[in-house]
This record gives sequence, structure tokens and C-alpha cells, in this order.
Amino acid sequence: MLEAINVKVKYKGKGDTVEALRGVSFNINKPLFVAINGPSGSGKTTLLKAIAGKVPYEGSIKVMGLEVKDNRREVSNLVFYLPVGEVLINDLTVDESIKLASMDNHSMHIESLLEWLGLSKLGNRKIIELSTGERRRVELAIALIRGRRIILIDEPTVGLDEDNARKVSELLKAVSRQGRLIVAATHDSILVEYSDLVYGMRNGLLYPYL
Ligand SMILES: Nc1ncnc2c1ncn2[C@@H]1O[C@H](COP(=O)(O)OP(=O)(O)O)[C@@H](O)[C@H]1O
Ligand SMILES: [Mg+2]
Repeated sequence: MLEAINVKVKYKGKGDTVEALRGVSFNINKPLFVAINGPSGSGKTTLLKAIAGKVPYEGSIKVMGLEVKDNRREVSNLVFYLPVGEVLINDLTVDESIKLASMDNHSMHIESLLEWLGLSKLGNRKIIELSTGERRRVELAIALIRGRRIILIDEPTVGLDEDNARKVSELLKAVSRQGRLIVAATHDSILVEYSDLVYGMRNGLLYPYL
């Protein structure tokens, strides 16, 4: 489903170059719930962006056998990337945000999804009136509704209390059981606890997690 071979990403600044990924390889051939666990600055976000085709990379990244950099359109139909923040529109209500996301996909049981995420009663609330954690849960709902074969989520549990972090982790696991590959970048030990497969990330390199 998702294969990376010797992936390198460099950010070129004025004079100095940051090597954010220094040769990352992995191969995931089943729909699992995968956690990329590493400290801030280790390259997690860059790895998700490279898979989503949002930063140029050297090496190879294949999604369902397609090289990402040569097949952007097809890849965007297979992969959904949820960044931290910058997803929601402040002036919309929760209901409107969910409606907008579900346009092209009615297959998910949206009501029960919202219920599980504790969003059912917030339908009429504007995004701008939500707490950080509530906003994150709306973003997660959108990611799951928009659904693709592969869902990349940067810091799924950022801003959530332990209870909600566990609910979200359980939900992501359940979604992977329905045949979708979830790759989450995180340093949250709760989420790691629920995942099927964990990679450690340090200094632009990926390690098997021991
Ligand atoms: N747009 C950018 N320009 C220059 N350097 C960047 C950029 N984005 C990230 N970096 C650097 O790349 C490294 C990896 O960052 P990132 O992938 O965001 O790590 P993480 O998500 O694990 O915190 C860090 O050293 C960071 O400062
Ligand atoms: Mg990050």
C-alpha cells in the first residue's frame, strides 16, 4: 500500500540547508494503524508531507504502486493528509463544516462518528467558538469523512485530554480495521499504545520501535 525507499528531503534556506529526511525506507502492505513516534524536529511532518506529495523528495515513495511525484492527481484521490491546524473555516458552524466535507462521500455513518467524538451537541457552534480540542475533533471527523485508502494525520491527539485521546486512538484503530491505512505522526504515548505498528523517528531517520 505504501512503500518508501531511501527518501531524502532537504529544505534550502539562505546559505544553510536542513536535511529533514536523510534516507527513510519502510514498506506497509496492509491497512494498519501506524504511529511515527519522535520528538519535535525529527522529521515527522516532513515525512507525511512527502507521502502526500507536498514537498519535493529524492528516492522513491509509492502509494498503491504509484510513484507519488509522478502521479499527483491519482495520489490525491488515494491519500488524505490532515495537518495540524489550517483546515477549518472559522465562520462556518460545525454542521456546515461536516456537510462541506461529506459532499463526495456518504458511506460513513456520520452521525455515529460525531457522537463518538462528542460533537453531536456542537452542531450549531461556529468553529471560532470551539476549544482547541473540539476543533481538533472536528478536523479528525473531516479527515475520516473525506476518507481515502490512506489517511495521514499529523499529531491526531494534539490539544486533547487523555479521555479524548483514547477515544480518538480507538477510532483510528477501528477505521484501519475497515481497510484503510492510518499513518499518524505523534509523540503521544497514548496513541502509540493503540497503534499496530510503531516507528521511531530521530534526526531525519526512521527506526523500528523497540
Ligand atoms: N519549511 C521549512 N524550511 C526549513 N526547514 C524546515 C521547514 N520545515 C521543517 N524544517 C526543519 O526540518 C526539520 C524537521 O521538521 P519537521 O518535519 O517539522 O519535524 P517534526 O514534525 O518531527 O517536528 C526541523 O529541523 C525543522 O526545523
Ligand atoms: Mg511536526
